[in-house]
Amino acid sequence: MVTARAHTNIALVKYWGKRDLHLNLPAVGSLSLTLDRFFTTTTVKLGATRDMLILDGVPASPKETSRVSRFLDRLRALAGDDSFCHIESRNDVPTAAGLASSASGFAALTMAASEAFGLSLSPPEMSGLARIGSGSAARSLYGGFVKMERGDLPDGADSRAKRLVPPPGFDVRLLVVRCAQGRKKEGSTDAMEHTARSSPYFAAWVSSHNEDMAAAESALLDGDIEKLGEVMEFSTLKMHASALAARPGIWYFAPATIAVLNRVRELRADGAHAWFTMDAGPHVKVLCQPQDAGALADTLREVEGVHSVEIAAPGPDAFLLHGDDEAANS
Ligand code: PMV
Repeated sequence: MVTARAHTNIALVKYWGKRDLHLNLPAVGSLSLTLDRFFTTTTVKLGATRDMLILDGVPASPKETSRVSRFLDRLRALAGDDSFCHIESRNDVPTAAGLASSASGFAALTMAASEAFGLSLSPPEMSGLARIGSGSAARSLYGGFVKMERGDLPDGADSRAKRLVPPPGFDVRLLVVRCAQGRKKEGSTDAMEHTARSSPYFAAWVSSHNEDMAAAESALLDGDIEKLGEVMEFSTLKMHASALAARPGIWYFAPATIAVLNRVRELRADGAHAWFTMDAGPHVKVLCQPQDAGALADTLREVEGVHSVEIAAPGPDAFLLHGDDEAANS
């Protein structure tokens, strides 16, 4: 029985679109921040009569279970062991609400299951495997700032994440502003496929993306939060513009989402250092400096329709939990 924990991450430069569906290879790279506040803890036990997935104490749907089972087939093939698994997964992050539970989920599953099958995989190898489960999961193997390579190889061997190290003293906070309740309406896999198939802006999204990656990476390595924030907003708006121009268009904006985006722009016009990003869900995440986080969070809590604002700091690498930690963490 093996337990692993992985923290969720939010892309500052987005991934949207796949270059290979079967291997789940991204059409573009991405750059993310792993968060301390939200994580998934997953225990894998070999020797079940069939793959069994318990999510937050409840048996998962057949669709969710078969997605995980297909993923485990790859580990079984690598290990030469066809044991079925009993998987128990607890999300300390709202499932499927645009807060990237699939990222922490598949990263924790990859680490726990590869250990349970006795595969000694390096973090880059685990990152490549996690990517097959969910593109953003490749990034959750690492803490802090992370770069996901698009890669060029057809087998995806170079499509993995790696750590990016900003200069000493550079620190940020990400405010997670919940703008709606409940599960999101359209999963990211279907939405990005639909965008790639039908949006006239998808090609422009892909062809203009490398420039954003380069700008964000150099801003981070220079410790320049203003440049990083600017390119972060540009990337998210471009991603959502490509989805809006799909046929029919897809959008994730709830009324409170728009109100928060407007508020962030107003605050910035008044001199605040705050930049927004949003994923395949209605919530907004706001990048800021640690010393500004409390006051900004209080201001955004006042926006009509906002359910909560949580302050997240950079989080750790994925890790295995051993007996005592498990008891302490259960
Ligand atoms: O990893 P997926 O398939 O859930 O896709 C993630 C897509 C976005 O969250 C919208 C962007 C990203 O890079 O995380």
